[in-house]
Amino acid sequence: MNQVLVSAPSNIALIKYMGKIEGSGNKPTNGSLSYTLENLRTFVRLTEIEGGKDQWKLLVREDLEKMDLSEKGQQRFLKHLQNLKDKWGVTKNFLVESANNFPSDCGLASSASSFAALTLAAAQMFQKINPQPWGEDKKVLSELSRQGSGSSCRSLFSPWAIWLHEYAEPMNLPVKDMHHIVVVVEDSKKEVSSSEAHKLVTTSPRFEGRVERAEIRLKDLSQALQFDDWHMARQIVWDEFIDMHRLFETSTPSFSYMTDGSKKVLEECQKLWNKWQDGPLVTMDAGANVHMLFRNDQKKSFETYRELFKNEFKVLAFEGVKSDVH
Ligand code: PMV
Repeated sequence: MNQVLVSAPSNIALIKYMGKIEGSGNKPTNGSLSYTLENLRTFVRLTEIEGGKDQWKLLVREDLEKMDLSEKGQQRFLKHLQNLKDKWGVTKNFLVESANNFPSDCGLASSASSFAALTLAAAQMFQKINPQPWGEDKKVLSELSRQGSGSSCRSLFSPWAIWLHEYAEPMNLPVKDMHHIVVVVEDSKKEVSSSEAHKLVTTSPRFEGRVERAEIRLKDLSQALQFDDWHMARQIVWDEFIDMHRLFETSTPSFSYMTDGSKKVLEECQKLWNKWQDGPLVTMDAGANVHMLFRNDQKKSFETYRELFKNEFKVLAFEGVKSDVH
């Protein structure tokens, strides 16, 4: 039986991809920079089947979460598989089984990890069936993954990925093995999908100048991280997610993902930062949850934040790999 099992991580953007060039297969209007979340992964098992057509099923494994993929979600996933089959000239049919190792009911986007995992699984399988000279080139695979879900193209590189145009590339920065907290403020389904958000933001008067603002922050953040300027990095990352959320709030029609809970968590982060003049990079995606990234040497602070928010919210906390262990 021809079968492959592959997993891919999620990622969190510190400079956001928001706004895409219409009809371009998810080419972004601005460059983005992300940190790869190795602990949040999608697993995809691809099995060749005789006849019939491509199908999706939940991958059942004790260590993986049970999730419900809507009919629309399944179609989008299978359409991506079809694109990959066309690219490799493969005509066989497959059973796609997938599942995440993180709860699907906590508002964490899984499209980045799932599309990256499907792309990698298909590449592994199709290279056996009809090998292509470009079939193992990470840039080509990143470009293909992007066509399924934009942000997934960054999940092929770790720990940092930069995505400017067609594909993402690894970025070499000294900050590694960060600890990660997600304060799960809201776990219900989003009312405005990120695909809709990409379209709506272009109606905001603040979209004018957005590309330039993002490009400047991308340059400044890369430098700050390169030269260990954590204060600067933290400020840029904060300004950037606020900028994205302001675009949402000033679109026509306007929408918002920020809840009272998100605001409370952000205020608390700001208070702690003012008190200690140190703390995590704080960011939010197109959702209500708040992500925090701590340097590897901020383990104590990571624990303090985890304990603080645990009383009121669901908190997912992942320790980065210790850099002193080789
Ligand atoms: O990949 P999409 O279309 O789901 O876009 C996601 C965009 C954000 O998550 C909001 C930001 C980003 O760069 O990941």
